[in-house]
Amino acid sequence: MKIAIIGTGNLGLAIAKGLLINNAITSLYLTKRDTSSLEKYQEHKEVTITSDNREAVMHSDILIFAVQPGHFTAILEDIKDLLTEKHILISTITGYKVPQIAAVVGDHQFIIRAMPNTAIAVGESMTCLCSNVTGSKRIAIAEAIFNKLGTSLIIPEAQMQAATVICASGIAFWMRLIRATTQGAIQLGFDAAEAQQLAMQTCLGAASLVIKSGNHPEAEIDKVTTPKGCTIEGLNEMEHAGLSSSLIKGIVASYHKINTIEKRNIL
Ligand SMILES: NC(=O)c1ccc[n+]([C@@H]2O[C@H](COP(=O)([O-])OP(=O)(O)OC[C@H]3O[C@@H](n4cnc5c(N)ncnc54)[C@H](OP(=O)(O)O)[C@@H]3O)[C@@H](O)[C@H]2O)c1
Repeated sequence: MKIAIIGTGNLGLAIAKGLLINNAITSLYLTKRDTSSLEKYQEHKEVTITSDNREAVMHSDILIFAVQPGHFTAILEDIKDLLTEKHILISTITGYKVPQIAAVVGDHQFIIRAMPNTAIAVGESMTCLCSNVTGSKRIAIAEAIFNKLGTSLIIPEAQMQAATVICASGIAFWMRLIRATTQGAIQLGFDAAEAQQLAMQTCLGAASLVIKSGNHPEAEIDKVTTPKGCTIEGLNEMEHAGLSSSLIKGIVASYHKINTIEKRNIL
């Protein structure tokens, strides 16, 4: 695959690292205006570093856009005359909808939106995908790319903001739960490093249990809540303090916020 990442910042670099680790490319163009931070990637023979987006587009088939929203339209305007039927456009840009992209480059182009999260850097992203009708003919290629970098799910574009909250913001939500568990473990006598190790691996184990068993989380909870035992005592105390309710309220608050940000900044 000949891939270009247009805008190799935090997310673009994480995608690049994942593609390189997986040997998923025949050529990889990495662009940004100031390329000094990317120089060490030049040692990969497949990688070309450039600040020239047009050069990257001409030498690539799959274009992954990872710039800030405010830069995207100008970049599309700059490269659109170079687009051919070989190009697949994959945008990771939050809130920038498929019809907005099509309005610049044309609805005949293969246009796909991807919403990964930062776990893409370790090959564990949950990436949601949607496309225009033309793009649906090539969405399997986007799935193949993002399945190498975690797992992916094709959803309607109307659910993309909700997916952003659950998956991209969700990384922060889960991190805070890991941190809180770590603080609890320190209070129970573990040193900070041990406490974090216990919290992280237990979180990973819980997720792996439901992924690999296919069980409902509550079925796994039933296995560890002995009647009158310590687990149900602690769990019910957390629920009295609003654990599930506060998580749901936080998710809904983020969702309301992302919709107002979109209306103000994008539309
Ligand atoms: N981080 C996440 O978890 C995440 C998740 C999902 C989606 N997203 C979306 O991904 C996009 C990128 O996020 P990010 O956190 O990676 O931002 P970022 O670190 O600011 O990266 C954007 C990069 O674009 C480059 N750039 C700006 N103008 C350019 C141009 N004309 N041509 C080529 N490169 C250009 C910038 O480098 P120079 O200034 O050197 O050009 C910068 O390194 C955002 O739209 C965000 O909404 C992020």
